[in-house]
Amino acid sequence: MFLAFLFCLLWSFQISLGHFPRACASSKNLMEKECCPPWQEDGSPCGQLSGRGSCQDILLSNAPLGPQFPFRGVDDRESWPSVFYNRTCQCSGNFMGFNCGACKFGFGGPNCTEKRLLVRRNIYDLSVPEKEKFLAYLTLAKHTTSPDYVIPTGTYGQMNNGSTPMFNDINIYDLFVWMHYYVSRDTFLGGSEIWRDIDFAHEAPGFLPWHRLFLLLWEQEIQKLTGDENFTVPYWDWRDAENCDICTDEYMGGRHPANPTLLSPVSFFSSWQIICSRVEEYNSRQVLCDGTPEGPILRNPGNHDKARTPRLPSSADVESCLRLTQYESGSMDRAANFSFRNTLEGFADPFTGIADASQSSMHNALHMYMNGTMSQVQGSANDPIFLLHHAFVDSIFEQWLRRHRPLQEVYPEANAPIGHNRESYMVPFIPLYRNGDFFISSIDLGYDYSYLQDSDSDFFRNYIEPYLEQASRIWLWLLGAALAGAVLTAALAGLTNLLCRHHKRKQLSEEKQPLLMEKEDYHSLLYQSHV
Ligand SMILES: *[C@@H]1O[C@H](CO)[C@@H](O)[C@H](O)[C@H]1NC(C)=O
Ligand SMILES: *[C@@H]1O[C@H](CO)[C@@H](O)[C@H](O)[C@H]1NC(C)=O
Ligand SMILES: *[C@@H]1O[C@H](CO)[C@@H](O)[C@H](O)[C@H]1NC(C)=O
Ligand SMILES: *[C@@H]1O[C@H](CO)[C@@H](O)[C@H](O)[C@H]1NC(C)=O
Ligand SMILES: *[C@@H]1O[C@H](CO)[C@@H](O)[C@H](O)[C@H]1NC(C)=O
Ligand SMILES: *[C@@H]1O[C@H](CO)[C@@H](O)[C@H](O)[C@H]1NC(C)=O
Repeated sequence: MFLAFLFCLLWSFQISLGHFPRACASSKNLMEKECCPPWQEDGSPCGQLSGRGSCQDILLSNAPLGPQFPFRGVDDRESWPSVFYNRTCQCSGNFMGFNCGACKFGFGGPNCTEKRLLVRRNIYDLSVPEKEKFLAYLTLAKHTTSPDYVIPTGTYGQMNNGSTPMFNDINIYDLFVWMHYYVSRDTFLGGSEIWRDIDFAHEAPGFLPWHRLFLLLWEQEIQKLTGDENFTVPYWDWRDAENCDICTDEYMGGRHPANPTLLSPVSFFSSWQIICSRVEEYNSRQVLCDGTPEGPILRNPGNHDKARTPRLPSSADVESCLRLTQYESGSMDRAANFSFRNTLEGFADPFTGIADASQSSMHNALHMYMNGTMSQVQGSANDPIFLLHHAFVDSIFEQWLRRHRPLQEVYPEANAPIGHNRESYMVPFIPLYRNGDFFISSIDLGYDYSYLQDSDSDFFRNYIEPYLEQASRIWLWLLGAALAGAVLTAALAGLTNLLCRHHKRKQLSEEKQPLLMEKEDYHSLLYQSHV
């Protein structure tokens, strides 16, 4: 059944022909520094004739950066995307995309006027056909060359400042693996010099917005590829997990019977080839990952360093983390204390919020635990567990946003590590998206999490419920009084009839308050991290 479904999909999408828009990868585009492709429906750049958008100069924020990266003008990712382009499409209204041909997140329909809300669900709540569909979509993405995007296989310098473009096709799944590699790769300083303390998507405030956008774009590509406009990525709720319970052949792949570091041959993913995993090799040659297959996915869940990551995160860890009131703090990097971002990322103790370089907790704990492809930052997205894991991390970010309702100003505007200021454009996305644009509720981006919906609207929970809690005591008292009154009235009415007969009285028992507080068990275990 699964195979038949997959076959149909593969057959109907036999395009076989990968984040640079293919339409902007020519030497002309690179020399002119312009990426304003035509919208196919009207042929005009950025769909200008249809009022979708127009080609505009990119305005870069000049807010100061943190001290972590002490160079200027050595890395193509600095002041993204100015090394490659200085003009891109600026879309109006609800339009989005490199040529304004798509809709903003949360909108659909031919003119992008229909508001949409999609729900990400627990992978265990998917029916068997739904789950098989998800696995089939992954397989299809891994086997379909991206029609819209290509990856650069050389630096801007290696392309002779754009005059000799170097780009490769890439499949839709690997496009995202490559983006995650490129955003976190080291800086080539020339010769054999490498600068490792740089990451445009981790160890700083942009960690959560970046991965949020990453998943949204991933969903959008799958929606386009399959025509399933309602597709959402499922999440893996790993709270209190004792092992990798999704590491079975029905889900994300079981263990190989003969080699514990490989996936079971029965698994959908055992035949997948990974890319962008040989970081030291690229560094020694000062070249970029070019998408060449590098062998199978490696995974050995639970074989990790237990001193660094004693166990997977618990519900109490998550709750404790959510209570941190500051989104970011201090140095805004992996040394930040009491930073919600740093704690959720896994560089700080979830109970104290104090940074601890000897431990990998929360988000990092899952990466370490998988002890394989997932454990190296640059290649981690090769393992599809990455998607399920980050969907759950994003749901915790969402809970924090709903609980603390931060103003946009709470996201740091200046002095964050390079690429992480509020107005910085996120590497390596084209079109352009700012970190601050994703520091808003997921509802405003058109999606929600089923387990956050179940617990009722958060407006209700955060704003109405506290009053209801108070009021409920009065209500119950009033209800009790009303009931007593009604009974008394009835009793009085009956009294006239019963006057000459026997008199009986009933007593009302006091009503009980519902239990409103949940009990939580806080262990005093420590986790911390450093990937
Ligand atoms: C954009 O880059 C082109 C090519 O280098 C240059 O001619 C042009 O002046 C630049 N425009 C802006 C606004 O910087
Ligand atoms: C979309 O907009 C175009 C141009 O304004 C209009 O002709 C068309 O009827 C609209 N379509 C829908 C479905 O609203
Ligand atoms: C590329 O541009 C840089 C800075 O503008 C310049 O120093 C370098 O010589 C150029 N390289 C080539 C191959 O054109
Ligand atoms: C997506 O969901 C909407 C609303 O539930 C529904 O009307 C539409 O038919 C669905 N589309 C597909 C392709 O299933
Ligand atoms: C797996 O864990 C062991 C320690 O248990 C560690 O030495 C090794 O580097 C880890 N491998 C990966 C790929 O994370
Ligand atoms: C974080 O807190 C620890 C423990 O109080 C302290 O040693 C460390 O210097 C603090 N780090 C920063 C960056 O303030």
